[in-house]
Amino acid sequence: MQIDVFTLVPHSFAWLTEQRPLATVLGTEIDLRLFGYRDTSPLASGQVDDSPYGGGPGMVLRVDVVAAALDAVYGGAPDHRVIALTPQGRQLDQAVVEELAAEERLTLLSARFEGFDERILTHLCSDAISIGPYVLSGGELPAMVLVDAIARLQPGALAEGSSERETFSTELDGGLEYPQYTRPPEFRGWGVPAVLVSGDHGRIDEWRREQSRERTAR
Ligand SMILES: C[S@@+](CC[C@H](N)C(=O)[O-])C[C@H]1O[C@@H](n2cnc3c(N)ncnc32)[C@H](O)[C@@H]1O
Repeated sequence: MQIDVFTLVPHSFAWLTEQRPLATVLGTEIDLRLFGYRDTSPLASGQVDDSPYGGGPGMVLRVDVVAAALDAVYGGAPDHRVIALTPQGRQLDQAVVEELAAEERLTLLSARFEGFDERILTHLCSDAISIGPYVLSGGELPAMVLVDAIARLQPGALAEGSSERETFSTELDGGLEYPQYTRPPEFRGWGVPAVLVSGDHGRIDEWRREQSRERTAR
């Protein structure tokens, strides 16, 4: 799968690309390419934004700058999905992540400051995605959230079996994962459920499914 991210701060993705599971599947399952709007801006000194028509504070990402960036990489409008990251978009959940992970190519557009000139959303994008009902300062974290969530679904990204019974998995009927515990068995008087150290895998499985159902119903 190829994921192209257009951003004002390509270097902000350095941390993510070193982290597993993305690092594990980079270059094999996922080809992640980062493009800076400034590098292909048709304007003097790499200008990318301008003040809003009608007045008001802040700067708006220009449509000609984004079009030039897409032209430089694809030689025109790409024939795959181009997703604007915006708090006004369709809200991201695991079903949307799975839908996007099934694509062979994706382009993610992030903005900063006041956001996108509306013509970018109308004419250059196929989708608009929000990572939640709150406003962040830029689309880089939302793009990283989406890339990480997609990376987890790639073959070989996670240790075998570790995503099978995760929150939202079909194994848990789309519900929440059961509580997890590890050593020590007691800390400050806080113990772990006896069933988990019983060695009885049938009972452990039953307990976990019940816990998952209870948490999901809360
Ligand atoms: C400060 S926000 C712009 C908010 C915009 N003026 C508005 O009121 O809808 C700057 C950029 O951060 C990104 N962003 C902020 N919150 C986001 C969210 N919840 N999901 C996806 N992207 C977000 C988008 O790329 C957005 O254009």
